[in-house]
Amino acid sequence: MTWQRKIRMTGNSDFFEAFAASYCDYYRDVDAGEAVRHWTRLLRAAGVNWATNKVDGTNPTLLDLGCGPGWHLGPWGDQGFDVCGLDSSPSMLEIARSHPGNGPPKRLYCANILNPASIGQLNQRFDRIVSHFNFLNLFAPQELDALFDSISTLMAPKGLFAFDYSPKPTISAADDTSGIETIKTEGTERTIVRRWNLSDGTVDEIYWFHDIEQLRRISSRHSLCVLHILNWPLSDNLPGTRNLIIAGKDEP
Ligand SMILES: C[S@@+](CC[C@H](N)C(=O)[O-])C[C@H]1O[C@@H](n2cnc3c(N)ncnc32)[C@H](O)[C@@H]1O
Repeated sequence: MTWQRKIRMTGNSDFFEAFAASYCDYYRDVDAGEAVRHWTRLLRAAGVNWATNKVDGTNPTLLDLGCGPGWHLGPWGDQGFDVCGLDSSPSMLEIARSHPGNGPPKRLYCANILNPASIGQLNQRFDRIVSHFNFLNLFAPQELDALFDSISTLMAPKGLFAFDYSPKPTISAADDTSGIETIKTEGTERTIVRRWNLSDGTVDEIYWFHDIEQLRRISSRHSLCVLHILNWPLSDNLPGTRNLIIAGKDEP
């Protein structure tokens, strides 16, 4: 093995903190403005009541959950939302604070979505929550209850949660010649582990692939109902097939 010192990791939130400095460079071709416009077109075509003003005339609130460097904050603001970002990585949020394309300063929260105490500090409910770039794939099956519980807590009544989602790995182990990516199947669970060599050590990023019926079942335990599963023909230059999933919060 030629891997450098392995940085001790306790989960994907630690991975992104270690990877933050390289993230923008690695994903520099992502067109966040086009992704937001594309989601908006898909939502409109599916008849989702996404961007309506509130009865008091104020703009609907939107939380970008797992906002990372905050690329999507400005474009969602341009669509008429009162936008906030949340991420567990202080280094990602530091980039989000200073990124020139993010528009006027936004409220940014540093919190771990799996930790109810850290979510409690927000003291706000959102009309819309979005998670871009396979956020749900970052969580193990045993974490999904805590994840949906926090999302439900953060949502206003009649709120909507939209997230892109890869239902299965898009490469097979046989295709993998990079040496950094391995696919593991344990029981019914499938994961991709990507090993990154950074300047100060090696870090692993883990993606879990959940069955959509499992997501539907677990989210329903937290008053969230999967309303739409839309196919997302890729218009950006990221690999993979994706769905755009929309879940709604039951009325209390
Ligand atoms: C795949 S990146 C996506 C970033 C950004 N949305 C984008 O599209 O470029 C996932 C983000 O989720 C954050 N994250 C991972 N686990 C988290 C957790 N438990 N709570 C809050 N944020 C988390 C990471 O720090 C990272 O910024």
